[in-house]
Amino acid sequence: MSDEPLVLGIETSCDETGVGIVRGQTLLVDTVASSVEEHARFGGVVPEVASRAHLEAMVPTIERACREAGVQLRDLDAISVTSGPGLAGALLVGVASAKALALALGKPIYGVNHLASHVAVDIVEHGPLPEPTMAMLVSGGHSSLLLVPDVTNDVRSLGSTMDDAAGEAFDKVARVLGLPFPGGPHVDRAAREGNRIAIDFPRGLTTGRDMERHRFDFSFSGLKTAVARWVETRQRAGEAVPVADVAASFQEAVVDVLTRKALLACKEHDVDHLLIGGGVAANSRLRALAEERCAKAGVTLRVPRPGLCTDNGAMVAALGAQMVAKGREPSDLGLPTDSSMPVTLVQA
Ligand code: KG4
Ligand code: ZN
Repeated sequence: MSDEPLVLGIETSCDETGVGIVRGQTLLVDTVASSVEEHARFGGVVPEVASRAHLEAMVPTIERACREAGVQLRDLDAISVTSGPGLAGALLVGVASAKALALALGKPIYGVNHLASHVAVDIVEHGPLPEPTMAMLVSGGHSSLLLVPDVTNDVRSLGSTMDDAAGEAFDKVARVLGLPFPGGPHVDRAAREGNRIAIDFPRGLTTGRDMERHRFDFSFSGLKTAVARWVETRQRAGEAVPVADVAASFQEAVVDVLTRKALLACKEHDVDHLLIGGGVAANSRLRALAEERCAKAGVTLRVPRPGLCTDNGAMVAALGAQMVAKGREPSDLGLPTDSSMPVTLVQA
């Protein structure tokens, strides 16, 4: 098969129905239908609502992707699909759709890991991945630090969150501050008007024994509670809550820990490329501080554009195309979904 394989990728691990088409390392189209608005009034993603939305969006999204890319399904070299981790019912819709396409078209299918896909997507944005690359994935569902010698079959976990994911912390703090869901972008915006050293919020797992036992792990639930307590105390005293200062100080605590640990991992593993992905990578302060600290450490920073950082189909197509180009065997047509697929398993 050519080293410029034409691959359609399907992503349904959470609330985005993503369909992307990639030729080799070139992105042809990235089509996303999100059900985020249907979840907003619940303050979080409702799995059953997400599954139903995927079901309704799947065929139109595939058709739109093919139309916009000028691609006929029969021309595809392979189908790739997120097989995990993610919401069980949501994953099932994507995997069942991919199997139907693969069977009907007689094409190989690759069931791939959502997290490895977040890493692979940067290939269509910034070219081949240096091997190894350090990757930090921060989103509403995950916060991981990964050492990636080969995104198609060797992804190693250095650490992850012990409790809340980074994006989850943003969403919960947003709620405490009366900002809408999903809260990350609103906290980011509010923080621009605030003072990031106004309140000294805790930096989880960054000192003493914690740094020995959880060197590259994260914890954000203590921070989230500290913010909630701080706000409650103000409210009980009948004082106004300085939303911008709280947002800026909270955000600083998160991005300080993330960038500090990511650069320590680069240093200790002798890696000079850091990739940041996931929805929280859209955070303006995270980008600025990561750039500053990477420059100081002589590390090259790679961050895909925001649309490719959040969940999308292009990332799954990008990883699928790498699989094909590297001659990896396709998955079995009976491939399972795995809602807690380990990050070290690139392919199902
Ligand atoms: O990758 P993503 O779209 O979906 C998941 O896999 O979770 O990430 C969504 C998360 C949400 O928690 C959202 O609040 C957060 O990313 N997010 C942000 C920003 N934009 C999105 N967090 C902080 N700052 C932002 N600018
Ligand atoms: Zn994700």
